[in-house]
Amino acid sequence: MTPTLPPAVKKRTAAERVLVLDFGSQYAQLIARRVREQQVYCEIVRHDISASRLRELQPMGIILSGGPASVYEKNAPQCDPELFELGIPVLGICYGMQLACQALGGKVDNTPSREYGRAECRCTTSDGLFAGVSEQTQVWMSHGDQVANLTDNFMSLASTDTCPYAAVKHRELPIYGLQFHPEVTHTPEGGKVLANFLHTICGTTGTWKLGDFAAESIAAIRERVGNKQVICGLSGGVDSAVVAALLAEAIGPQLSCILVDNGLMRQNEAAAVIREFTDHFKADLHVVDAEDRFLASLAGVTDPQEKRRRIGHDFIECFAEEAAKIEGAEFLAQGTLYPDVIESGAAPDGPADTIKLHHNVGGLPDELGFELIEPLRDLFKDEVRRLGLQLGLPEEIVWRHPFPGPGLAVRCLGEVTRAKLDTLRTADAIVVGEIQAAGLYRKTSQSFAVLLPVQSVGVMGDSRTYEDTIAVRSVDTDDFMTADWSHLPYELLAKISTRIINEVAGVNRVVYDISSKPPATIEWE
Ligand code: XMP
Repeated sequence: MTPTLPPAVKKRTAAERVLVLDFGSQYAQLIARRVREQQVYCEIVRHDISASRLRELQPMGIILSGGPASVYEKNAPQCDPELFELGIPVLGICYGMQLACQALGGKVDNTPSREYGRAECRCTTSDGLFAGVSEQTQVWMSHGDQVANLTDNFMSLASTDTCPYAAVKHRELPIYGLQFHPEVTHTPEGGKVLANFLHTICGTTGTWKLGDFAAESIAAIRERVGNKQVICGLSGGVDSAVVAALLAEAIGPQLSCILVDNGLMRQNEAAAVIREFTDHFKADLHVVDAEDRFLASLAGVTDPQEKRRRIGHDFIECFAEEAAKIEGAEFLAQGTLYPDVIESGAAPDGPADTIKLHHNVGGLPDELGFELIEPLRDLFKDEVRRLGLQLGLPEEIVWRHPFPGPGLAVRCLGEVTRAKLDTLRTADAIVVGEIQAAGLYRKTSQSFAVLLPVQSVGVMGDSRTYEDTIAVRSVDTDDFMTADWSHLPYELLAKISTRIINEVAGVNRVVYDISSKPPATIEWE
């Protein structure tokens, strides 16, 4: 059966849409984001999508992503070869280029010198794909194979010292290939190359705008909801806040929000959300004060997964109890984002396999019996943030770092108690506050404190102490699947350490976590 697109998507994107065929590239989502940055709507679809389905979807361009396989291997992922005959412009990137060249008669081989990292690229053309690009330009390579022989049908557009065909073009068909990755920031002129492909070769005009998204999404929500009531859970995070703001715009008094205050949130987090949704959006906000209940159920528990299980279970119970008090509610709004949809294998025409298991997929169970509204299903996180600002949410909420569902419970290692949570919350506010004051909060992706179950000896004044340790964690990441520890300035670390030791009772030692992910994870539990 052919999956049908939700009506809002069909309507919005019928005119200008580009599809990325995913061959397992770590960069597939990044390619889609780069295309959307050119204001062209872009979706990721499975690599073996049929040519007839593509004909129905009528994309203005097709991008074949990179991938870890070798095109000449037996079970290497293929595309429907007929897609090259559709007359739709195709851009193959790395594996995608090799696949296109092989399908059209070229030969791909293992390169004697594998090429990873920066390379100098010489462009032999200054128009079409390379219009406005410097003759010598830096590109990012990441491949073991390359096209060894082009058929006469193709011509070379660029080369590097070790790669004669760094960019190619079919002589008659609108088919292009890049051996390098234009989507990564290490290819500084990659954006121009992509823009040329989109606007010059595919003929897109760049009309995909978040403003239109908001207006169309609001209209679609109104049509779907009619005069029914909608419930939306608020967590303090940006996704749920944007969903609630969008719904507040769309249906105003038909929206009821529920915030379960589990006592495991960051300092001032609940207060900021309550203020915003009562004062600004004037929403019907139900705050469930459930701190005692959560702490009682966490008493004596040290295993991280058991903590998660109990918190998840209590959350569902609290939410369901409160939801039952809201009369006539038929819909539940959730902040599911496009990466969650792709990674859970639920996107129409999207990659079928669950590529990555993400903690944030899941949420409330179907048994609650609501119909789901997921207005952010087509958006990436940076788009959600822009939408939030457009809807009038304050920067404090829009730019807040992500926070795990089980909250401070998984940053308070070992047993969770109210006293430990208070210590951790105060230290965490210092970490975040100082990183903000240094102007580095938006440069880092997630920064926080962890309370370790480790006491150590210290001296304060004239006496010996034996007190707790706080670990400071700050990471830089694009997708939270891999991450590097933030190289924060020593002066900043020194200030954070001094303030925590002086201001947080019971802490006499601060350490900085310098582990990347993998092999470590971002959270400690
Ligand atoms: P890790 O620690 O696996 O975290 O590197 C990756 C991202 O996921 C968040 N995280 C969670 N989010 N429930 C959530 O909703 C959880 O149980 C959970 N555990 C980790 C983490 O904060 C990071 O952003």
